[in-house]
Formats: sequence, structure tokens, C-alpha cells
Amino acid sequence: MEIVILGSGNVATHLAYALKKAEYHIKQVYSRKIEHAKHLADGIGAEPVGNLSHITTEADIYIIAVKDEAIIEVASALPLGNNILLHTSGSTDMEVLKPFSLSYGVLYPLQTISKEVALDFSKVPLILEFSDSRVKEEVLNMAFKLSPLIHEYNSQQRRCLHLGAVMACNFSNYLYAVAHDFLREKEVDFDLLKPLISETAHKILEHNPNEVQTGPAVRNDSDIIHKHLALLEGHRNWQRIYQFISEDIVRKYAGENKQEETN
Ligand SMILES: NC(=O)c1ccc[n+]([C@@H]2O[C@H](COP(=O)([O-])OP(=O)(O)OC[C@H]3O[C@@H](n4cnc5c(N)ncnc54)[C@H](OP(=O)(O)O)[C@@H]3O)[C@@H](O)[C@H]2O)c1
Repeated sequence: MEIVILGSGNVATHLAYALKKAEYHIKQVYSRKIEHAKHLADGIGAEPVGNLSHITTEADIYIIAVKDEAIIEVASALPLGNNILLHTSGSTDMEVLKPFSLSYGVLYPLQTISKEVALDFSKVPLILEFSDSRVKEEVLNMAFKLSPLIHEYNSQQRRCLHLGAVMACNFSNYLYAVAHDFLREKEVDFDLLKPLISETAHKILEHNPNEVQTGPAVRNDSDIIHKHLALLEGHRNWQRIYQFISEDIVRKYAGENKQEETN
């Protein structure tokens, strides 16, 4: 089984190393910047390619792991017939690949993946979609060698999962970054928050997040909320984020708080 990886970024890099570990032969790595292709290809013993016209016609599976808006552009330049064509996106429809191969599908790794951060691919849920039963058989065979956490979803369900991932991961991480920058400005050590960040993530592994919300907003403690907003003076966007999320928490738990008061 021979594989071509198109892309050399976060997903392409971790996927390529995981496939090599599973003893697949990566024939070529493409990146529009040849030095990027070379960097990844050298590490996994593949041929680096900087021009799509040099992609082999003879691989079994072609995996596109480029920026979402470049998927069609890359797919349209590939010399495919019945070879399997996959993309790795959370929110791009599988059917965008239909014009370019008879056999296509999606392999979406549901994880936050950064090139420079180590990743155990066997713990990454893989969200799969297939154009037909032959693709299903071949891709499942490959996917199970990467991770036992395999799920089959259609494009709409996968897009919902991706949206959930953006909220749970990307937005949380951005709030860590805001907290980090705010505390640095006030010369307070962000690292003191790390046990709290860790406990927050651990807690929701065992509990419904709705049931373990804490903080001034869930108590509707408007005095503290106003003091915090005053501390954010000069950072309009941080104030808006704080206020918007606080208001939504207050609104959500207001009914419950009222009930508790009357009990
Ligand atoms: N990172 C994640 O956490 C994650 C998780 C699951 C799924 N995904 C999905 O995986 C895909 C790749 O994401 P990523 O995070 O690996 O991206 P990335 O690290 O930003 O890498 C983007 C890649 O796209 C290439 N590229 C950008 N524009 C291009 C164009 N016009 N033509 C050809 N190549 C182009 C870049 O090539 P150059 O380096 O040569 O510029 C680079 O190889 C996306 O569909 C993303 O939604 C990402």
C-alpha cells in the first residue's frame, strides 16, 4: 500500500509519522514550498515534491492535509482515476472531492494538532466518511492501524463535531491566552493557574460541564463582575468577552438560583 501526503503542516506531519510507524510506505510528500516538503519527506524516507504535476499516478491513497480553502485546488491537479482520495478537514464536505476521483472519503483527526508538539496518534479519534464500500474497507483497514478510536459520520455531523471542537478547544485556548496576557501585564504568574486549568479539564471527563460550573457569574455576583470589568479597562475586547460570557452564564443559571433562594 503506497500513500502520497499532500501538505506538510500540523496534520500532514503527525499523520505521515503515524503512517510510517504503522509500516506504510509514504511515496511522496507535496508542499508548494519544496523546503517544507523536503523537511517532512526526509524524516519519513519519502520523495519531496514541490510541483503537483510531479505527483505519481501509482499510489493507492492520496491524503490532502492542506488549508481548507486549498483542498479543491490541490485535488483538481491530481492525476487520479480510481485511486483513493481523502481530505482531513472537519468542516469541508466529502463531496467536494467527487469531481476528482471515483473513490474518495474523509479522515478527520479530532484532536488539536501542532507540528512542534508530540502526539500519540493511537489516542486520536478518527472521524471517517466514505464514498462507497471499497473505500470504506481500505480506509478502515488503514485507520485501525493508526488508532482504535474510529467513528463514521456524515459531512453535516462532522461539521457539528468540528464546531463543538472549536468551542471546547480553540475558544478555551484563546481564553487561556487572554488570561496569560492579562496576568503578564499585571505582573502576576500565569503558571499559578495551571492546577486550576488541569482540574477544569479533568472534571468534565467525569461530569456534565453544566453541573460543575463555578465562578461569580453562576452565583450572579454582580459586584465582583463589575470589579473584574473595571480591571479590564483599556482592553475593550477582553471586557466584551468577559461581559458576554458572564451574561450568558447568569442567564442560563438564573432560574436555578431563584429556585434555590426560595427553598
Ligand atoms: N491542526 C489541527 O488541529 C487540525 C485537526 C484536525 C483537522 N485539521 C485539518 O487538517 C487540514 C490541515 O490543517 P493543518 O493544521 O495541518 O494546517 P497547517 O499546519 O496550517 O498547514 C497548512 C498546509 O496547507 C498548505 N497550503 C496552504 N495553502 C495552500 C495552497 N493554496 N496550495 C497548496 N498548499 C497550501 C501549506 O503549505 P506550505 O507550508 O507549503 O505553505 C501547509 O502544508 C485542514 O483541513 C484542517 O482543517 C487540522
